[in-house]
Amino acid sequence: MVRKRIRILYNLICIAMITVGILLFNPNISIATADTTSTEKTPEKTPTYIQQKNQSPDGIGKIYMGREIAKFVVYKKADWFQRSSREKEENPDQVIALLNLKPNYVVADIGTGLGYFTFRLAPLLPQGKVLAVDIQNQMLDKITALAKNQKITNIETVLGVPTSPNLPGNTVDLALIVNTYHEFAYPQEMIQGIIKSLKPGGKVVLVEYRGENFFIPIQRLHKMTQEQITKEMQSVGLIWRETEEILPSQHYMVFQKPDVTATSSS
Ligand SMILES: C[S@@+](CC[C@H](N)C(=O)[O-])C[C@H]1O[C@@H](n2cnc3c(N)ncnc32)[C@H](O)[C@@H]1O
Repeated sequence: MVRKRIRILYNLICIAMITVGILLFNPNISIATADTTSTEKTPEKTPTYIQQKNQSPDGIGKIYMGREIAKFVVYKKADWFQRSSREKEENPDQVIALLNLKPNYVVADIGTGLGYFTFRLAPLLPQGKVLAVDIQNQMLDKITALAKNQKITNIETVLGVPTSPNLPGNTVDLALIVNTYHEFAYPQEMIQGIIKSLKPGGKVVLVEYRGENFFIPIQRLHKMTQEQITKEMQSVGLIWRETEEILPSQHYMVFQKPDVTATSSS
């Protein structure tokens, strides 16, 4: 009888030891303890921008969503924006027609340069205005002087910074960005700032030289593909609405800020 009890006790001890062994050494089973020496790290967030050591001749060496950001065109070289061949190369009248403007619209011309589009927009907005945004004050001074000279009263210049257009929230019907988006040093922050400035349902129109076409004589990083533009706009919550391929060398793409105030009838 005593022997039997000893054997049962022995068996129980064996089972207990095997169980403890399994718990301690099985990698699939973890025992919750207050382990202050753990070296396990929380996964690191992918950086928005990656700065490379080398940069392309027309780039700043900074990568955003797989593309290198282009150098921006400095004021000294801005005469190029006004070149006489530009009308034939870009058909700005066609761009303006595609915009479907209403007379009371507030339009932000982001990266206005010397106002190539600002001065074409202003007469079409008799009850509205153009907000001419740039990070180079010299460009804005030229626009102010020309607007004064031509007695145009519905152009307001706005000095932006590389991370923000410095526009008031919920005031803009349409943001036009011509040949400029690819040279934003902080595209994500810029486009988020532009979205904030838009009224609900407001639109962002991008006009960019076609990156898919090697033969368009524009520096590589100053062109963009439809795919890249769409990827970047959708990543900040904009909704793709329209792409037109009727300009000689540029994509014309329209994105919309979601209208959270709109009520769905279905
Ligand atoms: C290639 S020019 C285009 C000018 C004009 N849109 C046109 O079609 O003639 C780009 C302009 O964008 C401006 N720019 C660059 N980064 C900017 C930013 N983050 N915010 C506002 N303007 C910017 C530059 O100073 C330059 O005047």
